[in-house]
Amino acid sequence: MKIRGWTQEDVKTIAAIEKRCFGDPWTEEMLGACMQYAWQQLFLAEEDGQVLGYGCLGVLFEDAEILNIAVDTPFRGRGIGETLLRAMHKKAKALGAQRVLLEVRVSNLPAIGLYEKLGYTRYGVREHYYEDGEDAFVMQAGLTE
Ligand SMILES: CC(C)(COP(=O)(O)OP(=O)(O)OC[C@H]1O[C@@H](n2cnc3c(N)ncnc32)[C@H](O)[C@@H]1OP(=O)(O)O)[C@@H](O)C(=O)NCCC(=O)NCCS
Repeated sequence: MKIRGWTQEDVKTIAAIEKRCFGDPWTEEMLGACMQYAWQQLFLAEEDGQVLGYGCLGVLFEDAEILNIAVDTPFRGRGIGETLLRAMHKKAKALGAQRVLLEVRVSNLPAIGLYEKLGYTRYGVREHYYEDGEDAFVMQAGLTE
């Protein structure tokens, strides 16, 4: 498996995975727009030409944010999410970030498990953060070690 950036050519594939992973998926238009923002870094896990997962990281000075991370359903539980997240941390650190933040649905136990494994703690709750009314945990991890 290799981790690389993603380009316009990957957008259709990523959009299809988004639909399988989220009830409120990013559209092709939203995914395409990511490439226009210099503050966003894009990550894609690929094996034998197949997209396994992807992530989008935002870095603004000392703060980084995990804007998106997903692994396609057949490939979960193989360490791909962890590899992507570690690659995102490495990049954030290289760009000068000192901490990384994210929002996650309070019911999303696989994602919360991944984040806690990589040192995230719960920082707060955003009530009714999602369109369906679900709350989000705000989680953060330090990048200084
Ligand atoms: C969250 C997600 C990215 C994890 O990807 P993954 O490749 O399956 O995760 P990994 O195999 O790298 O697992 C790493 C760690 O995460 C945790 N984890 C993964 N799946 C889990 C599950 N179903 N339940 C609890 N913890 C889980 C474990 O701590 C695991 O470490 P371990 O294998 O040593 O126990 C994946 O489930 C996903 O794409 N979900 C849908 C999209 C999503 O919710 N994204 C996050 C939005 S905030």
